[in-house]
Amino acid sequence: MAASLKLVTDKRSVFVLSVIFSLSYAIHVTHSLLTEQIVRKQTAEKVYERMNSTIIAIALVAVIIIAGAAVYVMYGQGTSTNPTATNTATTQKTASQTNPPASTTTSSLPILKVGTSPDFPPFEFIDDKGNIVGFDMDLVNILANMTGYKVQIVSMSFDSLILALQNKQIDVIAAGMTIRPDREKLVSFTIPYWNASMSIVVKNGSSFMPKSLDDLVGKTVGAESGTTGELMLKEYVNNTGKQINIKSYENFILIVQDLVNGKLDAAMIDTPVAQAFTKQYPVTISVTIDTGQRFGLAVNKDNTQLLNQLNDALQELMNSPQWDQLVSKWFG
Ligand code: ARG
Repeated sequence: MAASLKLVTDKRSVFVLSVIFSLSYAIHVTHSLLTEQIVRKQTAEKVYERMNSTIIAIALVAVIIIAGAAVYVMYGQGTSTNPTATNTATTQKTASQTNPPASTTTSSLPILKVGTSPDFPPFEFIDDKGNIVGFDMDLVNILANMTGYKVQIVSMSFDSLILALQNKQIDVIAAGMTIRPDREKLVSFTIPYWNASMSIVVKNGSSFMPKSLDDLVGKTVGAESGTTGELMLKEYVNNTGKQINIKSYENFILIVQDLVNGKLDAAMIDTPVAQAFTKQYPVTISVTIDTGQRFGLAVNKDNTQLLNQLNDALQELMNSPQWDQLVSKWFG
């Protein structure tokens, strides 16, 4: 049923069918005229007349064929089967499997599974209504709109994101992820969209005000597992042989809560996020270390097509006034 519908709506089939129809009609007309002549044993004059009408009939058929061909050429490639009609029957594909059509209805757009860890305001966090929102979330939605995808957010801990991307459980990481050479071996990063430093955060009114990593020696310091903050602390310990009691968490919110509860002496948090926390919790930035971090979105190493699409769209967005609106919405 669907196959025959597809065959009939296909422009090539229409053309071929009309040629076959026209030719068989021409043969039929010619044949019936000739048969008529023989059956009725017409006079030479009548045969002559009939032959004239045969020629006219054939000419008519030729005109039909030429007109058909002309229509075919005029409509060109544009009149093929409606993709939305056939796509609805198939299962939804993810971005790693399909090439998005440039213009279709929202419901038939391929899904872009975006992995994030929503504990990183204002990039990604859970709002009062329980929705995952933030700069990164707006960013991926805008980019998806520009490239013809529909976003589906997948929430997980930060340290699970890279593996999930490698396993193709998600198509994109949007999690304020710092572009690092070791990560670049595992995933492909887009062009950077944000610069950030690292801050050491303490509880408001704390007498302990560290001004460097050295000041953290002998202290209990919280960091999110798998993040650059945790890596910085581990590297310091490895390189100096000095002791910092590093407490790793799956969630920055819990780190800040433990800081407030007095369970931690300090925490390592990316500066723009540390600033956001100081507005929501009784915590303060003790020092900011210039680490020159740059955030990028990440895609699977195999998915160069998606990488190129995101890079083109990101470049275009960053050069447009919409970028300034997005920045002032979340950082304004
Ligand atoms: N920029 C840091 C990193 O890449 C921390 C990112 C944490 N992101 C999050 N959504 N929790 O390691």
